[in-house]
Amino acid sequence: MDWKQNSLTERLGIQYPIFQAPMAGGLTTPELISWVSNCGGLGNMGAGYMMPDDIRADIKKVRELTNRPFGINLFVPDCDVSAKAEDISAMCTVLERYSSELGMAEKPLLPEKDYALLYKKQLAVLMEERVPVCSFTFGIPDNADISELKKQGTMIFGTATNVNEAVEWEEAGADIIVVQGSEAGGHRGTFQKEESGMIGSMALIPQAADAVSCPVAAAGGIMDARGIAAAMILGAEGVQLGTAFLTCRESGAHPLYKQALLNARKDRTAVTKAFSGKPARGIHNRFMKEMKGVQALPYPLQNDMTAPVRKHAAKLERPEFMSLWAGQGMGMAEEVTVKELMSKLVKGTEALLDK
Ligand SMILES: Cc1cc2nc3c(=O)[nH]c(=O)nc-3n(C[C@H](O)[C@H](O)[C@H](O)COP(=O)(O)O)c2cc1C
Repeated sequence: MDWKQNSLTERLGIQYPIFQAPMAGGLTTPELISWVSNCGGLGNMGAGYMMPDDIRADIKKVRELTNRPFGINLFVPDCDVSAKAEDISAMCTVLERYSSELGMAEKPLLPEKDYALLYKKQLAVLMEERVPVCSFTFGIPDNADISELKKQGTMIFGTATNVNEAVEWEEAGADIIVVQGSEAGGHRGTFQKEESGMIGSMALIPQAADAVSCPVAAAGGIMDARGIAAAMILGAEGVQLGTAFLTCRESGAHPLYKQALLNARKDRTAVTKAFSGKPARGIHNRFMKEMKGVQALPYPLQNDMTAPVRKHAAKLERPEFMSLWAGQGMGMAEEVTVKELMSKLVKGTEALLDK
């Protein structure tokens, strides 16, 4: 099986069909992205929360560090998000418990943010910068935006968490579809009914690969060459690894977060809406446990409300209140450089699949 030369690597002009997942929140540094691309994979910037000028500055840095393809990932916003005043005030009361435990002077507040406008400005930067790959999660952009990006030669990756979403993405013009199994760390990319998006990779990959004609890349729980080989045999032409890259030296993850992943062999992950209002998988901690019965505000309102607590907890080294996103394979995370990880993944997959 030639896992390296397929329509995915050909379309992208990369050596190995291995993507480092875009991971928003300062995790995907220009160093991480460029090292992955320089090692023959595809580095991706998680730009969902970034200000447009910061995205532009990081693209410049990536371009200084590599001349190979890389990708930028955005969150497609849901423009109809709102919450009742009494629900916001109830959430403030719940969160005050944590802000006071952390000795924070400010009380939880819901800041006013215009996410639709932020997204438009982010998109404008990607168009001006003519980036090689744009990937999207949480939804499908407008036809006009997809056409504009494609016209200038940008490849479009869409995130799908079930077969119907994969088909929708293909109809919308995706060049590659990243199918996100339920094992995956971080937010679910689901944009159809929330409950339709929790399918394990073993079942999702072959069904999605059969349903669409463009290449499928598998994400979720892949930590080593065995996972890559399995995904390829199930019908994927590429893989996207998030958690495995978090513990790389070049990742921007907080040292406590890295340590929590490296020590996580006995811990478990869980899917929670408590941090952001959208289901996301991370290391099960005290905040998740105590917030279990509490109704979260819709995304991104809950995310904005919990941000000060999460940031303060990171400063005070209190991981029990941080969102430690991680996939179910986290027990296999290793402290490595990108070069070491990529070499291990490539050599291991070669040993398993190249005959
Ligand atoms: C810390 C973290 C942050 C993530 N942020 C994003 C993101 O901004 N955009 C996105 O499309 N996917 C994001 N994901 C999901 C990944 O794209 C991918 O689906 C996932 O990492 C695959 O599962 P794994 O972590 O088990 O490898 C994130 C995942 C993690 C672990």
